Amino acid sequence: MEKIKLKEQTMEFKLNGTTINYEGDPELSLMTYLRDVEEIISPKDGCAPEGVCGCCTVLLDGNVLKACIAPMRRIAGKEVITMEGLDPGKKETVINAFAIEGGLQCGFCTPGIIMKVWPLLNQGFVTEKEINKALNSNLCRCTGYKKVTKSCLSAAEALRNNAKIELPQSSGKVGESLPKYDSLRLATGEAPYVADLKFEGMVHGALKFSDHPRAKVLKIDTSVAEKLDGVFRVFTAEDIPGERFTGLIVPDWPLMLKRGETTRYVGDVLAGIVAETEQIAREAVALIDVEYEVLTPITDPFDALSKNCPQIHKKGNLLSTTEIKRGDSKKAEKESAFVTKGTYTTQRIEHAFLEIECCVAQPLEGGVEVFSQSQEFMKTGAVSVKF
Ligand code: FES
Ligand code: FES
Repeated sequence: MEKIKLKEQTMEFKLNGTTINYEGDPELSLMTYLRDVEEIISPKDGCAPEGVCGCCTVLLDGNVLKACIAPMRRIAGKEVITMEGLDPGKKETVINAFAIEGGLQCGFCTPGIIMKVWPLLNQGFVTEKEINKALNSNLCRCTGYKKVTKSCLSAAEALRNNAKIELPQSSGKVGESLPKYDSLRLATGEAPYVADLKFEGMVHGALKFSDHPRAKVLKIDTSVAEKLDGVFRVFTAEDIPGERFTGLIVPDWPLMLKRGETTRYVGDVLAGIVAETEQIAREAVALIDVEYEVLTPITDPFDALSKNCPQIHKKGNLLSTTEIKRGDSKKAEKESAFVTKGTYTTQRIEHAFLEIECCVAQPLEGGVEVFSQSQEFMKTGAVSVKF
């Protein structure tokens, strides 16, 4: 089968003081290059290629840059500095400030935040307002910004006075207030998250999601994707040998949809690609051709319960009912001066964790070892063994 090749370009640039001769795709993002080719994992992938979270921030000729939206052609002849290329003494002062002030929790955003404020911390005097303005384009979902700003101000003051910030030594006694045990590895970005894991011979997967929230899938043509150089295998629902359905409350969520089935949201998966690199896998996904009969989506929960609404799920559109009883409401009503009745709705809440959803599976003798991000690893294990 004739394979389609990706384009290549030759150029030179500096990375943390070393001259690099790059020969490859000029459109490849700097973040992907750093993470996949150089295996520098301090720039984290929180939203690539959206360019909104700031986790991948690096310095380009001294200016801050979101590496996920910078194509390699933009780097030609310039100098890239990552966390690894910062002055070691100053870096220690900054990460110690974050550790002592509690400026990080999960730490996923922290290397990007430090890179973002680095030029400010080194400019001499910096105000709280300047720090906050700089952090406008860096997201943190767990620490909150007050402690981050405090860490930055403390680091800036120490750098300005050529002073060191030392970590407190533990006496080993219970009750001491100490920095988070892994804060230094988290702050420098050395601590690996799932997307940072690499194994010998690892291949990469990418999924083709539905283009429509509700549509009947008429055809899935993967023939062009299969011809892309570097693609090992294309999977569709027909390739799943075991149980095809999963779900935490009702197990009726298909891992992949078959031709003829109807999607329920844009997160429904139609096919999966396994390729040499993540970039190739994603390029191949874009080459999958799907024909749909597009249907009107149901977007309102109350409409979904009405009699004439199409049934999205076999057992009906009501997923579950939760009744909450606290105290004697009848008695409280009787004793109240005023009683009002109504239907109350709350806003949707997205946890907005910054680490991307992904997993790594490693075949072992007699099984598979799965690395995934979850609070419920036992459940992940139980679900995984079904397929
Ligand atoms: S801004 Fe680059 S990964 Fe989010
Ligand atoms: S510490 Fe900022 S995202 Fe977790």
